[in-house]
Amino acid sequence: MKDLDSNNTLEVKDEIESIEIDLLLDGIYRRYGYDFRSYASASIRRRILKFAEQEGLSTISAVQEAVLHQSSMMDKFVLSLTVNVTTMFRDPAFFLAIRKSVVPILKTYPMIRIWDAGCATGEEAYSMAIVLKEEGIYDRCRIYATDMNEDVLRKAKTGIFPLSHMKEFTDNYIQSGGKTSFSDYYTAKYDYAIINQDLRQNIIFAQHNLVTDKSFNEFNLVLIRNVLIYFNEELRAKVLDLLHESMASFGILALGKRESLKFSKLESSYEELDSAMKLYKRCA
Ligand SMILES: C[S@@+](CC[C@H](N)C(=O)[O-])C[C@H]1O[C@@H](n2cnc3c(N)ncnc32)[C@H](O)[C@@H]1O
Repeated sequence: MKDLDSNNTLEVKDEIESIEIDLLLDGIYRRYGYDFRSYASASIRRRILKFAEQEGLSTISAVQEAVLHQSSMMDKFVLSLTVNVTTMFRDPAFFLAIRKSVVPILKTYPMIRIWDAGCATGEEAYSMAIVLKEEGIYDRCRIYATDMNEDVLRKAKTGIFPLSHMKEFTDNYIQSGGKTSFSDYYTAKYDYAIINQDLRQNIIFAQHNLVTDKSFNEFNLVLIRNVLIYFNEELRAKVLDLLHESMASFGILALGKRESLKFSKLESSYEELDSAMKLYKRCA
């Protein structure tokens, strides 16, 4: 049996840490149903250690005790494990490509279903709503914007963002090919901007966990941007299968800048619509 005191090497510490992480993630799955076991290990480790430090917990076993016994700690823990950073018209060139290559395809459908998976605080869904409105098809669209994290969804549903973000949102909107003034889409009140009701009416925000929940509809466009990067290879493949199951014939898949279908077994089921912007069209 290895003894930390007599054999206090970095390797032993790493081994113990890795056991503790496995036990913590197993415990969370069994207690709360959140499954982080197949997230990219370096990033999950970093986040767990940061959480431990913030909460003044000296070991990962102490984190386990805290989150298993206190659900309020678990809420904090989920927030700290996931990266929820987003913005309106993130990667503006992506939204230009949506206007140029995707909208003409969507226009051919009488009803258009869109899934924004991993929508965080909703900026991506509202950006899509603006593009679709300007392209004259928003009334025919339903955007299902989902995330596993209830906390970010609560914020998304309000459609309220700090006024201080409007400068960045406006710059991105202009670069993304916006056709009017971004300020037409919100009302400023005190330090906040409230997104117009007509943009919110066709967006359905709902909780959905890509790891543990199933396909719930068939979509003409699925956006999953900056989510797969946090998963390991096996989980990425599983989630891509779920999205494929949810994709209508000739449906379009939109990935994030650093994500791709390369080396996925689904690569041959999609043709590249815009390779730089990671837009793929289902062909099988
Ligand atoms: C970095 S944000 C991406 C937001 C937006 N798609 C964008 O590109 O700006 C990643 C989001 O994925 C969500 N997420 C992570 N794991 C998830 C899972 N298993 N199921 C659903 N959402 C998940 C997180 O809660 C987070 O809000």
